[in-house]
Amino acid sequence: MDPTETGHNYDALAAWWLAQMQDSTYGVAALERALTFVEEGREALDVGCGCEGRFFRALMERHFHCTGLDISGEMIALAARRYPQAVLEVGDICSWRLPQRYDVITAWDSTFHLPLDRQESVLQKLCEGLSRRGVLLFTCGGGEERGSVRGEFGGKSFEYSSLGVPEFARLLWRFGCAIQHMEYDQYPENHVYMIAKKR
Ligand SMILES: C[S@@+](CC[C@H](N)C(=O)[O-])C[C@H]1O[C@@H](n2cnc3c(N)ncnc32)[C@H](O)[C@@H]1O
Repeated sequence: MDPTETGHNYDALAAWWLAQMQDSTYGVAALERALTFVEEGREALDVGCGCEGRFFRALMERHFHCTGLDISGEMIALAARRYPQAVLEVGDICSWRLPQRYDVITAWDSTFHLPLDRQESVLQKLCEGLSRRGVLLFTCGGGEERGSVRGEFGGKSFEYSSLGVPEFARLLWRFGCAIQHMEYDQYPENHVYMIAKKR
């Protein structure tokens, strides 16, 4: 599924997403775990940040300067009203050029929407976008094989793709990162988060 189409779907869902996620702490424990691996620096990038911003809040409380990227203009418009202190950009992570390196990069339930053939190049981009000893947190499908599936969410059809856990782990190492933590955080759901650190 083309990322532009994903963005249009999230444009239509943005207000609903904000209402659904009010007061949510989903993924924040994983972020807090990731932050324990950060040694220095206070620049953070949230890829596919959406509009609700619980990651921004947790990061800002710890004095991070936050940048958010999302392919949905509606998501970013809502986020901009809520977090005027953040740098917020509309863009597709497949083509977006990181303007700098970041001490923390998060991609929570966002890069799993990428077309399968963009997974590797985006993972490389995120690893290369980390500063020295920087930390990456992302979610992916927890299977062992590469593949894509279609699923319904909020009344819209989305594509989800994964390279499989072994391949993500191999690529992280190839792109200069070492896994610090990996967890099936919604077991028995096929959902994994990984924390990796630049070697
Ligand atoms: C399930 S929502 C998660 C939002 C946020 N990370 C959260 O957990 O609240 C997925 C988000 O990823 C964004 N997204 C999907 N594909 C993207 C891409 N190629 N580039 C940038 N953002 C993307 C969507 O627009 C959407 O806001």
